[in-house]
Amino acid sequence: MHWYAVNRGFDMIPLFRPSYSNEEAEAVAETLRSGWVGLGPKTAQFEREFSQYVNSPYCVALNSGTAALHLALISLDLKRGDEVIVTPITFVSTVHVIEYVGATPVFADVEPDTLNIDPDDVKRKITSRTRAILPVHYGGHPCDMDALSKVSQDRGITIVEDAAHACGAEYKGKKIGTLSPLTCFSFHAVKNLATGEGGAITYREPERNKYFREMRWMGISKDTWDRTQTGEVYAWKYNVTRLGFKYHMHDISAAIGLVQLHKLDKNNERRHSIAAKYSRELKDLDWIELPVEKSYARSSWHIYKISVRNLAMRDALIEHLKRKEISPGVHYYPINLYPYYAQSKQETPVASQTWKRILSIPMFPDLTEEQQDYVIEAIKSFPAGKY
Ligand SMILES: Cc1ncc(COP(=O)(O)O)c(C=O)c1O
Repeated sequence: MHWYAVNRGFDMIPLFRPSYSNEEAEAVAETLRSGWVGLGPKTAQFEREFSQYVNSPYCVALNSGTAALHLALISLDLKRGDEVIVTPITFVSTVHVIEYVGATPVFADVEPDTLNIDPDDVKRKITSRTRAILPVHYGGHPCDMDALSKVSQDRGITIVEDAAHACGAEYKGKKIGTLSPLTCFSFHAVKNLATGEGGAITYREPERNKYFREMRWMGISKDTWDRTQTGEVYAWKYNVTRLGFKYHMHDISAAIGLVQLHKLDKNNERRHSIAAKYSRELKDLDWIELPVEKSYARSSWHIYKISVRNLAMRDALIEHLKRKEISPGVHYYPINLYPYYAQSKQETPVASQTWKRILSIPMFPDLTEEQQDYVIEAIKSFPAGKY
């Protein structure tokens, strides 16, 4: 522990941190003792409970959010040259999966306040080859889904939601997970529901259910658990009907996930009050723009992002916070500016300017009042007048 940290009584304050207790440890131990740690009863239970939670008829549990996005796009049977409209302000998985299936990512710009994909720019980017729109509920704040549905309607365009940040978020009173044909979640180490690694797709159509179950398990038409349910000790026979992947969730992750799911609303409430306190305490600093929560949205506050005047100020504030042993972050550098995507020369002026001014500050349910006060004081002590 740094002398600085000793003086204030706690260690460095991370940006994110999963909220675990003995309950998760017990659930893992129980699963280990059960002798069944692969794809099994805990995964099935997690799927049932998660689909009930978001009020979706179906859920398939997977080993990452990237796998969820990949399988969701494969299920659309896209052809080379088909276009998928996507936001540049995201983690790179959201865009890579479009390339995985041989389609072309088309970047639409973001709204300056929410940093969600801008429905008006989506409309401008639609061509005869557009087959899907891939919005990300940035930081847990739902996108303007009605506007997106309106622009995709009657054009045969499917919306695939990237809800990696939006576990438990609501749009017009409905949980994210049922608004579009396919919603993809991530349960990665620091997400609102964290299983270490993990993901899921929720969907409405029964036809997709068998398909996704086979696709996550190497295209095998009967999974291992089903095979133990036939009355035989272990039925070895199975069929391979598709070119599937090893994308299933396993029971250790699912056991953690079930405990996390039971705590999700409480933890999201805590995130909400942390966000409210930041906004209350920082609102008088005229050099900071605070995040918004639109009337249609209840954010899951995965990220609390502030914006400052310019790049130099943002970078200096990052250094200032780091010196005080606080870990800030930047979510995200626009994906269309990375060398792999920059060749396509697609411009998104709002994203290209806004990323320079944003930074994310510590946000996780176990952040203590003292730690949050310390972060707030650290921000207030930044010499903003220099920038
Ligand atoms: C917006 C977004 N999309 C997709 C992913 C990919 O999820 P995973 O890490 O579970 O593969 C992440 C997170 O890591 C994310 O933040």
